[in-house]
Amino acid sequence: MPEVRLEGLGKRYGNLTAVNNVHLTVHDGEYVTVLGPSGCGKTTLIRMIAGIIEPTEGKVYIDGRDMAGVPIEDRDIGYVFQNIALFPHLTVKDNVSYGPRARALPPEEQLRVSRRFLELVRLLDRMGMFPDELCGGEQQKAALARALASGSRLLLLDEPLSALDSRVRVDLRYELRRLAKELGLTTIHVTHDQEEAQSVSDRIVLMRAGAIVETGTPEELYARPKHIFTANFIGETNLLEGWVVEIRDGISVIELRNGGKVEVHQTDHSVGDAVVISVRPEFMYPADEGMRAVVRGITYMGTYWRVKAETEDDEEVDFDMATLDGNLLTIGKDVYLAVNPKAAVLYPRPEDGVEEAIRLE
Ligand SMILES: Nc1ncnc2c1ncn2[C@@H]1O[C@H](COP(=O)(O)OP(=O)(O)OP(=O)(O)O)[C@@H](O)[C@H]1O
Ligand SMILES: [Mg+2]
Repeated sequence: MPEVRLEGLGKRYGNLTAVNNVHLTVHDGEYVTVLGPSGCGKTTLIRMIAGIIEPTEGKVYIDGRDMAGVPIEDRDIGYVFQNIALFPHLTVKDNVSYGPRARALPPEEQLRVSRRFLELVRLLDRMGMFPDELCGGEQQKAALARALASGSRLLLLDEPLSALDSRVRVDLRYELRRLAKELGLTTIHVTHDQEEAQSVSDRIVLMRAGAIVETGTPEELYARPKHIFTANFIGETNLLEGWVVEIRDGISVIELRNGGKVEVHQTDHSVGDAVVISVRPEFMYPADEGMRAVVRGITYMGTYWRVKAETEDDEEVDFDMATLDGNLLTIGKDVYLAVNPKAAVLYPRPEDGVEEAIRLE
């Protein structure tokens, strides 16, 4: 049963720390995504799990077994590399049936398995072609089929969908999760796309600058992120600075730097504390009183309207409207904005400022 455990895992290149002190357990059958901005160490991390990169410090355990010195071919993993690595001299079919062949399945079983996964990635009609006859997206699908067909119970995917059109990418990510669950695979899926991470994961591991910021279910990281960085990186949010001016009945009243006052259902700060409120655009709305702002832009988003407004101290805030009918929101109009007190999250104001706290580096 593939459980992956990382203990104090780190990788340094000279002065540069690519991965720093990562502790993580991925449970048997769990689908975990490693999410984070470009350069935060995702590929380095997954390559250490695969045994392609040797850690500078720390340990990788697969099924409780210390992997130090165990080469990739002995770790029993299905791997999709970030830069797709198909065998150039083999056809698509032979690439995909590489694993089944290595496991010495009977030829008809090899064919059945590779057809199954090629069908899944909609590549059956390209079976006889060579990798350099495929476009980038098709190569990526072939690499995915090959990893799935490998028969390994541990799947390591490094940006497996990045070269695909958005429609195909969305379709395939659901297939991927469904299949991983159906086959009982343990999956570690690296992506920099937060929407992809949210839609496929049991749990998201959010990284920044080589370290884990926090881990949690997609719902936890969206609704109750522990860090401002997470609030900003996962989904969209408004970060508003202010001070706690009153606490009563489970509610903190915050006076915002831009002059408004809002209430938040959270009381783990004291009166006088400098705080930052994170509030998603869908939880902010025009009201009779609140934070004053001027509407600067209105964009139709398909199922809602995104309104951009500017507060009195020139901060931009975004809020969403399900409809504009009968609601005289127009560019240049003054509005008061209120915040859903249950959906806003309070943070202590970071010492080095909000900009620094959310910087992607
Ligand atoms: N072989 C190497 N030698 C020196 N530095 C390296 C090496 N490999 C990676 N790095 C550095 O380590 C950091 C992490 O790289 P990594 O490839 O793990 O990032 P990533 O999160 O996968 O980024 P992306 O989303 O762009 O793929 C980067 O700053 C990168 O430049
Ligand atoms: Mg990478």
